[in-house]
Amino acid sequence: MDITVKPDLEDATGDLLILPVYQGRNWGPGAAAVVAGLGGWVEAYLDGVDFNGKIGQTAFVPGTGGFGNVLFAGLGEEADADVLRKVAGIAGRAAQRYESVATTLSALEIDGAVEAVVYGFLLGQYKFVKYLSDPSPSRTATLLLVGSDPGGDVAHATAVAAGVTLARDLINEPAGGKKPEVLAGIAADMANAAGIDITIYDRDQIEEEGFGGLLAVSQGASNPPRMVVMRYRPEGASKTLALIGKGIVFDSGGLSIKPASGMETMKTDMSGAAAVFGAMQAIASLGIEVNVLGVTPLTENMTGGAAQRPGDIFTARNGKTVEVLNTDAEGRLVLADGLSLAAESEPDLMIDVATLTGACSVALGKKVAGLFGSDDQTAESVVASARRAGERVWRLPLEKEYRSKLDSPIADIKNIGDRYGGAITAALFLEEFTGGLPWVHLDIAGPARAESDDGYVTKGGTGFAVATLVAVAEDLGER
Ligand code: BES
Ligand code: ZN
Ligand code: ZN
Repeated sequence: MDITVKPDLEDATGDLLILPVYQGRNWGPGAAAVVAGLGGWVEAYLDGVDFNGKIGQTAFVPGTGGFGNVLFAGLGEEADADVLRKVAGIAGRAAQRYESVATTLSALEIDGAVEAVVYGFLLGQYKFVKYLSDPSPSRTATLLLVGSDPGGDVAHATAVAAGVTLARDLINEPAGGKKPEVLAGIAADMANAAGIDITIYDRDQIEEEGFGGLLAVSQGASNPPRMVVMRYRPEGASKTLALIGKGIVFDSGGLSIKPASGMETMKTDMSGAAAVFGAMQAIASLGIEVNVLGVTPLTENMTGGAAQRPGDIFTARNGKTVEVLNTDAEGRLVLADGLSLAAESEPDLMIDVATLTGACSVALGKKVAGLFGSDDQTAESVVASARRAGERVWRLPLEKEYRSKLDSPIADIKNIGDRYGGAITAALFLEEFTGGLPWVHLDIAGPARAESDDGYVTKGGTGFAVATLVAVAEDLGER
């Protein structure tokens, strides 16, 4: 999409003009003049359709001046960047049939307005149309922002939105179309285009390198696993951020098999890896001055004759032995190797992202990710980055008292606890593979997938965590 800026509304034209309206029909920038131009019927019409500017409300009316149509977009009582992202997403979705769109949303005097509007608009327009015979993708080709000079905000929002779009496309792709070697190939294309070094380990190399967890989970699958390791090393960077993403391209549960209903959306189980790919693409395209190590173990979790059995023991990359009592708790097994590998290069901060536990979405619902940190400062710094990125996370305790739930009589650790505090025991399991380095775990089992369109979030894979990871990279680069 071509995104340009015009200082004055009088100089703008287009098929659609999106105008912000505060609650109680308090007109946002440019709206009063347009309403006056349209004539007295507009207020009566808006009364009739009960449009009063509540957050998320929209109303189309015919255009005036240089515009074919006008869309009023409700902001609610007060707007901040979060509200703008959401409203721009709703407006973006509503605007898909118009080729040239202009808006004064970007002229609101709110910190980060341009960034929020572009980000929300682009992502609200997202559609996964690859497999539709009648695809009807968005027709919008140009977005004209009315307001002052946005500096680098348009480029920033565009880069992050492209990363989220990549993640959504990968998540929405059916598992049959993203076998580990295929997904690794897509990662390689992304990395090569972005100037990121990439190494892909095949099954034999995974065995040689001692990635025992990834190997164990992959045993039941006919399609072989891959371990993808990416390195972004810009000039002038001193700090290193490691990003580790769970890449289970399909989670049947393995021999501890899931019920049919629980499997329907399990192509989503590589959302952590997708977020790492999307974030690294955005970080590299923005030239953020921080080294980033990306590690994504990729495999299916299947039930083939060679599948790992409950009770089996494997040795992870860091030498610890793991008794696997439930093969459906497989994410932590592949992350054990991913974290161990990342820890070997002693990064300043490690963040793993995973659709790890149903327990986390039971605790926090579908819109909030669970966040665990090795220490208060590390955890709170990532909470702050997520806040800035507009993603909702909530810190949960890495409660050491529960570590004994993972004691195994015959191995260093077992892979499940009891039925209580499942998100916490999963995080405690992961901690064993972090080498005591600063580390944050994001459990995105809830927000990785949306049941319906919601603001700039679209039904299906959401690309959750891409924006947070980019914000963390920026914040770490500055420190
Ligand atoms: N991929 C699932 C977690 C999940 C469930 C993500 C629902 C998104 C929606 C994970 O591999 C899993 O199955 N976890 C088990 C762990 C349990 C066996 C300890 C779970 O949450 O039930
Ligand atoms: Zn599972
Ligand atoms: Zn899983």
